[in-house]
Amino acid sequence: MVLKTKSDISRRLLRWFKAHGRDLPWRSAFSPYTVWVSEIMLQQTQVETVIPYYRRFLSSFPTIQALAKAPQDLVLKQWEGLGYYSRARNLHRAAKQVVEAFNGRFPDQMDALITLPGIGKSTAGAILSLAYNQPFPILDGNVKRVLTRLFALRALPGAGLDKILWAYSASLVPSDARSFNSALMDLGATVCRPRNPVCGLCPLKTLCQGFEQHLQELLPLKKKRGPLPLRVQSALVIWKNKRVFIRKRPVKGLLGGLWEFPEEAIKKANLTGGTKRLEIYQNLGFQVNVGEAILKIRQTFTHFKLELHIFNAEYHSGSPPRDKNHRWVSLAGLREFPFSASHKKIVEALSG
Ligand code: ADE
Repeated sequence: MVLKTKSDISRRLLRWFKAHGRDLPWRSAFSPYTVWVSEIMLQQTQVETVIPYYRRFLSSFPTIQALAKAPQDLVLKQWEGLGYYSRARNLHRAAKQVVEAFNGRFPDQMDALITLPGIGKSTAGAILSLAYNQPFPILDGNVKRVLTRLFALRALPGAGLDKILWAYSASLVPSDARSFNSALMDLGATVCRPRNPVCGLCPLKTLCQGFEQHLQELLPLKKKRGPLPLRVQSALVIWKNKRVFIRKRPVKGLLGGLWEFPEEAIKKANLTGGTKRLEIYQNLGFQVNVGEAILKIRQTFTHFKLELHIFNAEYHSGSPPRDKNHRWVSLAGLREFPFSASHKKIVEALSG
């Protein structure tokens, strides 16, 4: 890219950002802690969804020390409904690491940042540029789309394309990296949108090779994906003396550390066979009588679709595990525990 074009791109973007940049809560202070929290929340979630979670999270954990000291259940409770819960677990682990290994001072060097769980090259670049105004590039989904169109890159997604995009992002970033990277993100979110980009409002229109070649709607190219596999599961709301049984999921793995109404894989054919339902739940460790279906929930995860069938059940006999990961809880008490979005719906259905 010629030097003149490069400085033209950054000048136009910076000017556009002054007039049209978004006023977002994490942009009022440049504290590395708050920038980090916002970047982790924004990794897989849209700005509008993140804002209330961001505010709530920071009022619960105003400093990295407060976050490091908090019990995991409380951190997950503040993340409840935001999805991709490994982000919350990593945030918590990283806070402890910063307090222990860096004396509570958030690192301002790339090498140190990427040793922290949950922080990859782009998130580190965002923290260095947005909190410390260091000239580091970023490459999140919005930025990838803007650069792919700007330079009309027709490669399929993958490591090869990412390498080219990193090189473009690095070559463009000016000394005011904070405003420039924010501008790239905002342009991607509000103008250079995935569908229906509003090229008429784009400050880069006359430099954009994608626009010139009428490719803006086609780029970035996408890999073809087959339909997601369907996973059919059942969950039991087991009652005993007006309390229900919940257990904590293993910390490693999908929805790790969240609480659940015991959930198991089930063959669709078994959903109607009353006695078979009992066999399915043998690994509960105690016996229950399975009753009526009370709810069906569908949810799409990254790699599969979930169809969750929920049944009422009564404790029958045997000894339920008695430890901190298994609890009998009143309906009101359920509010204290972090659940996934689908199990939160069960809680809401039970609370009427
Ligand atoms: N997406 C990722 N980081 C962001 C930020 N700091 N502002 C707006 N959108 C973002």
